[in-house]
Amino acid sequence: MKILIINGPNINMLGIREKDIYGSRTYEDLLNIVKDFCVRENIETEFFQSNHEGAIVDKIQTAYGNFAGIVINPAAYTHTSIAILDALKSVAIPTVEVHISDVENREDFRKISYISPACIETIKGHGFDGYIMAIESLRKRSEHR
Ligand code: DQA
Repeated sequence: MKILIINGPNINMLGIREKDIYGSRTYEDLLNIVKDFCVRENIETEFFQSNHEGAIVDKIQTAYGNFAGIVINPAAYTHTSIAILDALKSVAIPTVEVHISDVENREDFRKISYISPACIETIKGHGFDGYIMAIESLRKRSEHR
């Protein structure tokens, strides 16, 4: 199975940004953890990170017909982007939304996700493990079909 892993704005700043919230590990560390897991589990992955909403929309559109699942951490666009919601609805690829931090227990504006209506599941507050949980969830779902 082939999974696309999309990270939105400022996720490339992991290890530098708000370490008390996101920890001291870097985006590179995240990629290595997820890659190691996927190699062991024989899951093919592609990673994409962008600080630009339109670039994320473009990437989701090109995933059509090419990926069995999407894991997305839309970062701040979670709370603003109807364009990303519509792109995910357009391609209708099973998608899991991930947040490193527990967005339920932060500012009120982080409790609102424009993206979750297009997702089969949302995983929040599990740190980097959330990405592995999302991939496992997509794999289980594909095995039961
Ligand atoms: C985040 C939570 C968002 O509210 C925030 O804007 C991010 C990261 C998370 O992974 O916890 O940039 O998506």
